[in-house]
Amino acid sequence: MSDLSRREFIKSSVGAGLVLPGLASSLGRPQETNMKREGVAGLVCPPMERVRAAFIGVGARGSGHVARMLSLEGVDIKAICDNHEPTALQSQKRCVDAGRKKPDIYTAGEHDYRRMFERDDIDIVIISTPWRWHTPQALEAMEAGIHAFIEVPAALTVEDCWRLVDVAEKTRKHCMMLENVCYGRDELMVLNMCRKGLFGELTHGEAAYIHDLRFQMKEIERGTGSWRTGHHTRRDGNLYPTHGLGPVSQYMNINRGDRFDYLTSMSSPSLGRAAYAKANFDKDHGRNKVTYTCGDMNTTLIKTNLGRSVLVQHDTTTPRPYNRLNFIQGTKGAFGGFPSRIAVEGYGSTHGWQDLKKFRAEFEHPLWKRMGEVAKKAGGHGGMDFIMLWRVVYCLRHGEPMDQDVYDAVSWSAISPLSEKSVANRSASINFPDFTRGAWKKTKPLAVIS
Ligand SMILES: NC(=O)c1ccc[n+]([C@@H]2O[C@H](COP(=O)([O-])OP(=O)(O)OC[C@H]3O[C@@H](n4cnc5c(N)ncnc54)[C@H](O)[C@@H]3O)[C@@H](O)[C@H]2O)c1
Repeated sequence: MSDLSRREFIKSSVGAGLVLPGLASSLGRPQETNMKREGVAGLVCPPMERVRAAFIGVGARGSGHVARMLSLEGVDIKAICDNHEPTALQSQKRCVDAGRKKPDIYTAGEHDYRRMFERDDIDIVIISTPWRWHTPQALEAMEAGIHAFIEVPAALTVEDCWRLVDVAEKTRKHCMMLENVCYGRDELMVLNMCRKGLFGELTHGEAAYIHDLRFQMKEIERGTGSWRTGHHTRRDGNLYPTHGLGPVSQYMNINRGDRFDYLTSMSSPSLGRAAYAKANFDKDHGRNKVTYTCGDMNTTLIKTNLGRSVLVQHDTTTPRPYNRLNFIQGTKGAFGGFPSRIAVEGYGSTHGWQDLKKFRAEFEHPLWKRMGEVAKKAGGHGGMDFIMLWRVVYCLRHGEPMDQDVYDAVSWSAISPLSEKSVANRSASINFPDFTRGAWKKTKPLAVIS
């Protein structure tokens, strides 16, 4: 199929909501085809002299990505798509104000990104749209020959997870979920500690996204709350698992020596959002006319193939301080986040927390040692956003594999649909699909990159 006819085909099939041939059956499992499948763990693509970038969705999150990509060497911003024209214009102006060539904008409706994908001067696209768009836009990007970098979560259903895997394998394009927390200073330090065996054999981890986001319910016409609130009225489970889970998965070498085997999930009552709506909106307001279905706190337990346990929590409703838990323990000690604490055998008593400063000096991750000051100045969640995009651009320009691949994207995102299924079935244990089709056994762990 020529490029043009392939793009025409994608337009008609994906736009009509059809499943691409050979991608997935209604059971969410890959259809067996005669096509020889080759995994994309450690995928290496030819190095790029310059990275020609496009963006879809430049609202609260995407506009920050534009700003940070402008600060990186070797990046050209070619095009920006947002169906809200004033929002697209703001990011376009940001590029011009930075002394760059004015990028083209695409603002003619929800599918105008397809017109952008017809260009032949785009290498990567950064997708920061509302959740339901992530998978279709990433699939079409890869089919158009463009590497897809997707905001979290990568997919909302197991079927869509398989679609991402199948298309990434077919097109041999990068499909990375932009899990920025994996680049946090403490998270990379703990990864370094795990790799050096500080905690011994890992046994258990804890991850969470606990963030009081009820204020977003006041965003009615536009903004994150205008689309995110609806998820709390239709679903019940862990709606946003990847921030806490990404780093813990990397500590544990998930998809690289171990894998998620099954999970069980339970939700608390759903009370906080209805109470917030009652307190903040007229009784006839739409926010008071819906039923909030998602339990305020969702707790999921995952068992891995090596027998480890992982606790994952989600609560964006309760008035309580922010927390991602970021907890990891092994046979020799433990690290916990929020606030950061450590206790390791051989470094003092393990009946109390020890002095983390001494550990920081020894285990600070090389990337943060080298770039921490620049990253903190560049900002974005304390610098992690800058380090992430710097690393993406570095890997693209040097032809190195991404730190997170499509299997990570879908394994971490799949917690949402699997937890919803478990919650709906009295916390029944639900099997994880092996999205790597067995490759987790031989894929090498993520190295401590420098
Ligand atoms: N990693 C992080 O730390 C982090 C932080 C915030 C948000 N996010 C993620 O970023 C994504 C965007 O969130 P946000 O807070 O920026 O939301 P937002 O509503 O502020 O921005 C979304 C933008 O997408 C545009 N859009 C919607 N549908 C579109 C389409 N079909 N084509 C083109 N543009 C479209 C909207 O006009 C809007 O400008 C979400 O997936 C969210 O989970 C991640």
